[in-house]
Amino acid sequence: MKRILLPVMLTLALGTGARGQQALPLYLRTDAPLEERVEDALRRLTLEEKVALCHAQSKFTSPGVPRLGIPELMMSDGPHGVRAEIEWNSWNYAGWTSDSITAFPALTALAATWNPEMAARYGKAIGEEARYREKDVLLGPGVNIYRTPLNGRNFEYMGEDPCLAGEMVVPYIQELQKNGVAACVKHYALNNQEQWRGSVDVAVSERALREIYLPAFRKAVVEGGSWTIMGSYNRYLGQHCCHNEVLLNDILRREWGFDGCVITDWGGAHDTREAALYGLDIEMGTYTNGLTSESAFGYDQYYLATPYLEMLRRGEVPVQTVDDKARNILRLIFRTSMNPDRPWGSLCTEEHYAAAKAIGDESIVLLKNEGILPLQADRYAQILVVGDNAVRRLTDGGGSSELKPRKTISPLEGLQTLYGDKISYTRGYACGRPLYERIEEVPESVVDSLRREAVARARRADVVIYIGGLNKNAYQDCESTDRQSYDLPFHQNELIEALIEANPNIVVLNITGNAYAMPWADRVPALLHVSYLGSMGGASIADVISGRVNPSGKLPYSIPYRLSDCAAHASGNPAHYPGIERGEVSKTMIPGSFLDGGADPQVTYAEEILVGYRWHDTQKIPARYAFGHGLSYTVFDYGKPEISDNRMHPGGSVRIRIPVTNSGSCDGMEVIQLYIGDDQCSVLRPLKELKHFRKVFIRAGERVEVEFAVTEEDLRFYDETSHDWKIEKGSFKGYIGSSSSDIRRVVSFRY
Ligand code: BGC
Repeated sequence: MKRILLPVMLTLALGTGARGQQALPLYLRTDAPLEERVEDALRRLTLEEKVALCHAQSKFTSPGVPRLGIPELMMSDGPHGVRAEIEWNSWNYAGWTSDSITAFPALTALAATWNPEMAARYGKAIGEEARYREKDVLLGPGVNIYRTPLNGRNFEYMGEDPCLAGEMVVPYIQELQKNGVAACVKHYALNNQEQWRGSVDVAVSERALREIYLPAFRKAVVEGGSWTIMGSYNRYLGQHCCHNEVLLNDILRREWGFDGCVITDWGGAHDTREAALYGLDIEMGTYTNGLTSESAFGYDQYYLATPYLEMLRRGEVPVQTVDDKARNILRLIFRTSMNPDRPWGSLCTEEHYAAAKAIGDESIVLLKNEGILPLQADRYAQILVVGDNAVRRLTDGGGSSELKPRKTISPLEGLQTLYGDKISYTRGYACGRPLYERIEEVPESVVDSLRREAVARARRADVVIYIGGLNKNAYQDCESTDRQSYDLPFHQNELIEALIEANPNIVVLNITGNAYAMPWADRVPALLHVSYLGSMGGASIADVISGRVNPSGKLPYSIPYRLSDCAAHASGNPAHYPGIERGEVSKTMIPGSFLDGGADPQVTYAEEILVGYRWHDTQKIPARYAFGHGLSYTVFDYGKPEISDNRMHPGGSVRIRIPVTNSGSCDGMEVIQLYIGDDQCSVLRPLKELKHFRKVFIRAGERVEVEFAVTEEDLRFYDETSHDWKIEKGSFKGYIGSSSSDIRRVVSFRY
């Protein structure tokens, strides 16, 4: 209330001023066109006030213009819920009692729903919570492409495919921003690993950049209309991405017409001149090592603070640069903190929990089922649950996406609600604590005794439900570190093997934001892949296990048999992951901190465009579970497809229509996936690429028809010679399937 009234009061003051001006100053009229308000406000600012807009005034706020009643911007992490309040000037939590929220499923779970309607519900609900908590900018969602299963932050992103991530991010942003809260799409761009994230220089071909790593960002900006974007920590073409001439000036602003604000990742700015010239608007978090307060290094010493002001005064960078930044920031302020029409928001409502539950339900991926699932209560007297993740609070940890939920239902609680006292529990394994650069080894005696106990109890149980996976500690699914191994941690493979021996009636469910090795997969009768599901996770898990919910999630990334089957690791050459250190540690980096930059490292994306299933398909290296895979308790039959024309003309399109029948005995949802392949081309193309998908609900015994319009955009590739998109004439195929490896029908057409 206070923040909205301020400008109005100022209106009255100025409007009836001593000199008796008649007209109210334009910037005070909220119905005036946005750009007029921006220009009007800009004209009133001093140089100092413009510069002040461009950098933080606390850990999570940037200033407005107090003299003119222009309010500050309040920001908060993160993509999965609104983070608890942080102290003004340190990284400590402020300890409020009014900042508990709904924890929504991780973005990788959202991607696994393959349902843009779920993304819209997500954006609406999280936007309402952010607004209620008086935030103007929500630091998310993230759309960095899943390049390696070792990336500690994959759980915050939307998988390995640009089409899937792009389709899912748009409704999230649109619904979020209806609350007058800006999305901050992150981390732009090429932040595909956490090791040395502070400075790793990514060598990637222009084609891979355009075809794989940028399209979801482009969609977020062009179709989603994101009001802000976060520059990433790493470098591209030797320049930090928070002030990168090619990424920010050439592509984001000029090509995509972005009119919002570029905000640094926290501590992502490194140079005043570059920050002035190359597209940055707001600098946050500089010179913090994640532990200390700002008192030793004031906000006025930020690159875009006094040093910038001095360069402007000396004429070393054009005044135009600060005018452009101030314009972008004022536009953001008018859209958010000075937007009188925005709704009030709400927190932890039934609707928000229902959204979290529905997204969780639709995200769970049934990888394998030999008939043991759904688990019918009347068939089992004793159900043993084993595993740390059945009880662990997985909203704790993970870095900036950590949450303080008002309520959470653990998997064990969810199962107890449905199966009552048939359920018993034992932990089975212990998690070593993360130490600097490694995970603490749990003493062998502890490992043994936990395992022995679990195995003995498994023998006596009718059925075992194993709930393990990764967690949010460092070197797992966690910001600022990468995983150290593709295997499950904490000796879980040995435990799972022992449990299978003890009781082959076992359901294995692993909670993880990443793929992992499953050497025992052929010997378990049922296998579920679940991401971090937040407040309602345990209820979603129990409902899928019991069959109250028919699973419909599909993998948003491939699960290779072994790490070397994954494109980024195929060569085994460290230059391709994690990169090679070439020199000295930069002076603006703090080794060992949350922003470790290494010694001038460079990583080369040698696999180019063949990321994820594009690699598996084209190189004929099958994944254990393919991108897009996910089973149901019912069966879907794909009928004969029809194509509107067997030739696509320039500027035209062809329509592909396919009937799908639910021929099983329960209602269910299926994701029909359309991949396009170019039969021959002068450059290497992936065997096929996802271009369209549709999730449909089909009642048992019923049939639906799904139609896709294929356009030129779906056929093209990025030509590095002309630096433009291109289609070569010839024949193309449309592969229609239930996953990237389960193609049911193929149609051909020419262009
Ligand atoms: C993370 C961002 C986050 C920011 C603020 C950084 O370390 O990379 O994703 O939004 O901190 O917490």
